[in-house]
Amino acid sequence: MSAPLQIWHPFTQEALDPRPIRIVKAEGAYLFTEDGRRLIDGISSWWVNIHGHCHPRIMNAIAEQARKLDHVLLAGFSHEPAEELSRRLRTILPPTLTHIFFSDDGSTAVEVALKMAVQYWQNVGRAEKKAIVALENAYHGDTAGAMSVGDDSAFTEPFESMRFPVHRVHSAYCYRCPVGKTRATCDIDCIERLQKLLEEAGSTIAAVIVEPLLQGAGGMIVHPIEFLQRVRRLCSEHDVLLIADEVLTGFGRCGKMFACEAAGVEPDIMCLSKGITGGALPMGATACTDAIHEAFVSTDRTRTFFHGHSYTGNPIACAAAVASLDVFDTEPVFERIVEISRIHAKRLAEIKNHPAVGDVRGIGTVAAIELKAGDAGYMSRLKPKLYEFFVNAGILLRPLGNVVYVLPPYVISPADLNYVYDRIAESLDLFV
Ligand SMILES: Cc1ncc(COP(=O)(O)O)c(C=O)c1O
Repeated sequence: MSAPLQIWHPFTQEALDPRPIRIVKAEGAYLFTEDGRRLIDGISSWWVNIHGHCHPRIMNAIAEQARKLDHVLLAGFSHEPAEELSRRLRTILPPTLTHIFFSDDGSTAVEVALKMAVQYWQNVGRAEKKAIVALENAYHGDTAGAMSVGDDSAFTEPFESMRFPVHRVHSAYCYRCPVGKTRATCDIDCIERLQKLLEEAGSTIAAVIVEPLLQGAGGMIVHPIEFLQRVRRLCSEHDVLLIADEVLTGFGRCGKMFACEAAGVEPDIMCLSKGITGGALPMGATACTDAIHEAFVSTDRTRTFFHGHSYTGNPIACAAAVASLDVFDTEPVFERIVEISRIHAKRLAEIKNHPAVGDVRGIGTVAAIELKAGDAGYMSRLKPKLYEFFVNAGILLRPLGNVVYVLPPYVISPADLNYVYDRIAESLDLFV
């Protein structure tokens, strides 16, 4: 008898981690296991789900589109779902972002942004502007380019030889301030490294890439709004493109439709994914300014943007994304977001002074508790213990090492969210 086919699970160490939990159904904020348990999806299934699982409007749109047109390549062809989605995105994006390039996921949205920025400068006759600047604690995905702009970590260590060099500058990680300030004494001094770099080498730099206001996988690090505003100003002063990776922060996650909006900042390029389809299907999108797009339009074929993926602009994914935007228009989505933020703020304030807690931080629908730990970081021994504790309590939370975070679908009920916090409070006494 041949051996059964095995799934190789992501970010999973089979020799140490518990066996994967089989899920048979999902609805709203809940996942239902094969053995009859119900889990509260406290991390929106890796930050993708926004309106709840199996939202009827999105599921119906998928079914309807699947009966009409499943897929066609987007080179030389177009279709209503991609056109409608582009129109709809333009109504919510900063008005300067006029063109949308579709791809498959967050990593490909980032790869597209990086390549677009580098080729843009070549196309306008400034090929020397090709370096990329990225932040400490950054995470932008797992493909080679996205890994290059992500900060050094256990995730990237085996792949050093595959990563292209980037300029690395401080991020505004206030709890572990890189320049030794406190918020009371700080004038966003951590920006100085970027400022100096752009003054000295701006003429060789194509773009600065940031996760606006919230660095996700690096530890749910919330930046002061002024940090992003200063990055924007410096990029404009030194003729450097600003890439905002809104893969996590977009579609209401940080309280506004986009994090950039909360800071009043307009990037030159914006990466979207995760919540774009409401969390139902994979899709990436990279939006850019008219000036960037124009630089690729030429009778000289070598100026073409030679990039594309087989499933670029998949009609069914586009239909799901349009339906997700319909949900924003027809349901009180931002009221739900405000309620989640209110509960986050209240409950974080209650546990802030617990002796096990180092820092609490939050923005929009995202809350994080950084626990004190001798082995702080992704590999912290706290993570597997906490994970198991929460699953046994009927909650999916996947701490980033010693950082426990809550990032629920917007439809989570106040009772369920409070239940999650009650268990987090319990865990502080048990393990730390
Ligand atoms: C900010 C950011 N960019 C990019 C990515 C990569 O997205 P994906 O996992 O869909 O490739 C992620 C994933 O967590 C992310 O948080």
